[in-house]
Amino acid sequence: MPNTKTLVLIKPDGLSKSLTGNIITRFSETRLEIIAAKIVRVSRELAEKHYEAHKDKPFYSELIDYIMGKLHKRHKVMALIYYGENAIEKIRAICGKTNPEEADPETIRGQYGRILTSGVFENVVHASDSIESAEREIKLWFEPDEIIYDLYPTEIKVFMNYKKRVWKDDPYRKYT
Ligand code: CMP
Repeated sequence: MPNTKTLVLIKPDGLSKSLTGNIITRFSETRLEIIAAKIVRVSRELAEKHYEAHKDKPFYSELIDYIMGKLHKRHKVMALIYYGENAIEKIRAICGKTNPEEADPETIRGQYGRILTSGVFENVVHASDSIESAEREIKLWFEPDEIIYDLYPTEIKVFMNYKKRVWKDDPYRKYT
């Protein structure tokens, strides 16, 4: 079985309900390795890039407010990268289905998620759904030097005499 990597976000509802410890404990059942972690104040630009696939959905605007923390008292998200055998599938199994009402009650979303009256699924965690989306999302949320392994090719760019290692194929050209 191949080693894969996946991006996990503990969303603002997870942080405002003090669920970080519980969620990380649940994920530790997988025996996967955490290879990067940080707390992020999510900008509108980051939120829109992360959810660009949903921009035509009726819940898009509320989804952006949700991930930016505007619906909660916590304007922050915890971003982690998990690495190991079948990481994407193992993490998604513990998260449960996207719709908290359909999620198995033992999963994180089944236990702690809810549907807002506006219709948005407040589902506590996000997890990459494929190898391709994991690559896109990891490159969006993390810089190469924030991760303990070299996951994807990088290059050195010079900004005003300052050298920085960046993703060679950065889909968002953050530093160009
Ligand atoms: P996430 O895994 O972060 O990916 C997209 C998010 O959009 C999802 O979790 C939910 O928070 C939200 N979402 C997805 N589908 C719907 C839907 N049908 N109605 C409302 N919110 C949704």
